[in-house]
Amino acid sequence: MSDSAQRPRKILITSALPYANGPIHLGHLVEYIQTDIWSRFQKMRGHTCTYVCADDAHGTPIMLRAQAEGITPEALIAKSSEEHQADFSGFNVAFDHYDSTNSPENKAFAERVYLALKEKGFISRKTISQYYDPEKKMFLPDRFVKGTCPKCKAEDQYGDNCEACGATYSPTDLINPTSAVSGATPIEKETDHLFFELNQFEEMLKSWTREGHLQTQIANKLDEWLESGLRAWDISRDAPYFGFEIPGEKDKYFYVWLDAPIGYMSSFKNYCTQSGLDFDEYWKEGSTTELYHFIGKDIINFHALFWPAMLSGAGFRTPSAIFAHGFLTVDGQKMSKSRGTFIMAKTYLEFLNPEYLRYYYAAKLTSRIDDIDLNLEDFAQRVNSDLVGKVVNIASRCAGFVVKKFDGKLSAAWSPEATALYQSFIDKSEEIAGLYESRDYGHAMREIMALADKANEYIAETAPWVLAKEAGKEAQLHESVSLGINLFRVLISYLTPVLPVTAERANAFLKINNVQWNDIKKPLLDHEITKFKPLLTRLEMADIQKMVDASSQTLNTQKTVADGKKDSSNKKKSKAPDSVNASGYEPIANEISIEDFAKIDLRIAKIIHAEAVPEAKKLLKLTLDIGSEQRQVFAGIKSAYDPEQLIGKYTVMVANLAPRKMRFGLSEGMVLAAGSGDSDLYILSPDDGATPGMCVK
Ligand code: MSP
Ligand code: ZN
Repeated sequence: MSDSAQRPRKILITSALPYANGPIHLGHLVEYIQTDIWSRFQKMRGHTCTYVCADDAHGTPIMLRAQAEGITPEALIAKSSEEHQADFSGFNVAFDHYDSTNSPENKAFAERVYLALKEKGFISRKTISQYYDPEKKMFLPDRFVKGTCPKCKAEDQYGDNCEACGATYSPTDLINPTSAVSGATPIEKETDHLFFELNQFEEMLKSWTREGHLQTQIANKLDEWLESGLRAWDISRDAPYFGFEIPGEKDKYFYVWLDAPIGYMSSFKNYCTQSGLDFDEYWKEGSTTELYHFIGKDIINFHALFWPAMLSGAGFRTPSAIFAHGFLTVDGQKMSKSRGTFIMAKTYLEFLNPEYLRYYYAAKLTSRIDDIDLNLEDFAQRVNSDLVGKVVNIASRCAGFVVKKFDGKLSAAWSPEATALYQSFIDKSEEIAGLYESRDYGHAMREIMALADKANEYIAETAPWVLAKEAGKEAQLHESVSLGINLFRVLISYLTPVLPVTAERANAFLKINNVQWNDIKKPLLDHEITKFKPLLTRLEMADIQKMVDASSQTLNTQKTVADGKKDSSNKKKSKAPDSVNASGYEPIANEISIEDFAKIDLRIAKIIHAEAVPEAKKLLKLTLDIGSEQRQVFAGIKSAYDPEQLIGKYTVMVANLAPRKMRFGLSEGMVLAAGSGDSDLYILSPDDGATPGMCVK
């Protein structure tokens, strides 16, 4: 046993706390699966590794969402917590403890951190002017003010940045601002806010960010921010707000991002009560335990600047490292509701085995922050060829012989060649462990699959099915299948952090339990196994298609909106919950209200591609650019237009029409045309100057 594997470490790890106002989707799962693999790996290595998480329960979006549903915020967060935990456990993400930021312990820690910072003079007070909704009687976070972009004049943009041109600005710069909460015109109003004096931590952060706690890509990014100087961070919000009241103030609440990371501490604190771990040992200044936060690249500033500064200012230890990852794309594009690639954890689980996704993500993950792509065809192909074709196949090829010919017993001794082959598998152990440790899971999976190829070659060469038919070859047959099973066991052991349930089944078949990383050093000799049952079935494209279809049908599921989450690295934001409306249309009566009309999301679209659908008499297939995304639409205008003639033209489309599956593909909207049909058809075009994505009102 190697020393490095055996020096026991005390490790605390976290994943970012998911917002309590939205469901878990496949994007989130990149992070929870990445962290879970690491946690399971550390535990297998014999370390004390604790993995905690919680729901992020505070903030304006949660308060408003609860109001919209006609329930209390407490009821909303209780429901989310239950759903989130069901989703996580469905994907075999095994937290040691899952909590909520709306807990008494978190309140106590938030107050303690705040009061310590205040005591040391790190909290200041300033009067600011902010948009206020006179109808709702509340101050509006940036993302709850909408209006026309001051730069490109695109309508219906958020108060922090423009989705059409990418400009960033403050809500007061918007032309014709309206409150996204009530539709009222907001007024500017003065109010006192509390600030955390981040600038006083400039020197501390300059050294901390360069001490190896951060990935290089991130350290470089932070260098830029640090060079341009740090501003004080606004940590208070005025009532009404769902959160913790600030001690010593009236009607002021901690901004959700103040008490959210403190949730890491309070969740762990609650776990200490049940596990007997010592909170102070892990969190006191100068602690020698390890603390790692797994996060997405969109929340780096909160974790790599504000959080270490808060901790050090309040007299706690700082994180050993922040491990950031990139964002998920599906088939090369941002997850999209209309394409059915905005897939909820729950929807996935209705159709597919979670271990497939765990493996695929593992195969794609690196220690860097590049985005990772879930390519649905590659997903099926990879799972089938690697897991089913290579790994599971080894056991299914050998097990029958062991059971039928040798009473389920593996051979008691091996030839030198067999021993050498087994040893060559064990020799990879520390290298593979190193790759898990450094989060280079993709590289680890490639090494493991190379070993699987080697095991399959051995079986093909020794050909047990031939030996079984020849007289006097029992000893060779027994060695071939026994070694085959042993090599399978090594592979499954290496894959255990990624495929915990498959590994558990394999261990039942091998009659072993409590598997630790180094157990493979002793091969299974003269050991009894049981009958083999298939561990994983092939992943069928048809099931993936069913999942995609089901996802495009649940379009009205809302997306989490971050409360003022200003994003440095991931410019383009998704739409707010209220702007996604694909419930289709009610039958049209003669008269409609303005609200009815407002439901129709009409957009300027640029036709960037057009082609005839050969099998359809009237249809052209159009690709439309609407600024934030591209849509495919089938339009019945073949008899009136040559496809060529349309490319480059601007038109108007209904952007929130429920997508329709046609024989030739998905139609994701409708273009508007006048006329009576056939050749008497005229598509509508805007006046010069309109740009793709503009709202038509
Ligand atoms: N509540 C905050 C985190 C507070 S931590 C003290 C938050 N919540 S979130 O629900 O929006 O995101 C939770 C985690 O999932 C974040 O680390 C985020 O980066 C990650 N992801 C959310 N969508 C993602 C993708 N599409 N792809 C990869 N990770 C993504 O942020
Ligand atoms: Zn703009």
